[in-house]
Amino acid sequence: MSTAPESPVLQIENIPAEDSSPAGGLISVWTINRPNKLNALNAEVNSAIKSACDWAENNSDVRVIIVTGASPEEPPEGKRPKPNSFVAGADIAEFEGKSSVEIRPIFDDNVWEYVWNLSKPTIAMVDGFALGGGSEMALSCDIRIATPRSKFGTPEINLGLIPGGGGTQRLCRLLGYGRAMEMVMSGEMVNGEDAHRMGLVNHLVEPDQLRTKTMEMAENFASKSPHTIRVAKAAVRAALENPFSKGILAERDLFCALFDTEDMAIGVKAFLNRDKAEWTGA
Ligand code: COA
Repeated sequence: MSTAPESPVLQIENIPAEDSSPAGGLISVWTINRPNKLNALNAEVNSAIKSACDWAENNSDVRVIIVTGASPEEPPEGKRPKPNSFVAGADIAEFEGKSSVEIRPIFDDNVWEYVWNLSKPTIAMVDGFALGGGSEMALSCDIRIATPRSKFGTPEINLGLIPGGGGTQRLCRLLGYGRAMEMVMSGEMVNGEDAHRMGLVNHLVEPDQLRTKTMEMAENFASKSPHTIRVAKAAVRAALENPFSKGILAERDLFCALFDTEDMAIGVKAFLNRDKAEWTGA
């Protein structure tokens, strides 16, 4: 397997999944590492994440991707520590002085779509601020697991902006029109508990349990057929892309096509024989 792209602003840790099937699967944990800027997404981070997406997509050993933010560093003597952060947004310093013509190419080929377009399961592991482009990074993942002290928000309105990394669309689909509108127009932050209640967060766990809970979920996904997992993701996505009647047909096509796969034959046989399925990924 090719090695993961290296970058000081994106640490990539590839952890062998304990019970992956087929064996050799990896859970790839991506830590956005700019803690002194609350892990804000600058051009360097965006480029590193895009390279990581290309790498992960093309490596069959990578079964699940976890995206998280680096913890705060020890502050210098006499200084207050920086707050915990997943990602506090796009790097606002890179917005200054830019015109629409200059910003357009950056948003036409944006990092959030790279993450969204991954065919493998993605989990955002959130402990702290997930604001603006950071909330959009969490929304670009399939699942969000967060701590009660996390804060989600789309404060772009306070900068004379709106979300530009898919936030208006993904929030509306995930939370519904009214809640999305309130977040986007008020710019107010939502704490972890409220985010969980609203359905923005799948699971709420205390900070000392965050990694364990996230890894448990990743291990679960890694134990399934990687082919079937990809198809499952595509089928659920079809609900976002299509009107209902077309989505139902898309699901039916995907379901029926699975009857020609090795893994479907393996899964059904294993169930009937009360065995554990040993997937091939085909
Ligand atoms: N872009 C660039 N730098 C950012 C940033 C962002 N989105 N968010 C935080 N930072 C930087 C701060 O400028 C500061 O840098 P400095 O120490 O070199 O001055 C550092 O991260 C720490 O942030 P600070 O504001 O001092 O922390 P705080 O605890 O007082 O406040 C927040 C935390 C999250 C409330 C505040 O940083 C904030 O509002 N950030 C911007 C959020 C935002 O609007 N995001 C949407 C952007 S599209």
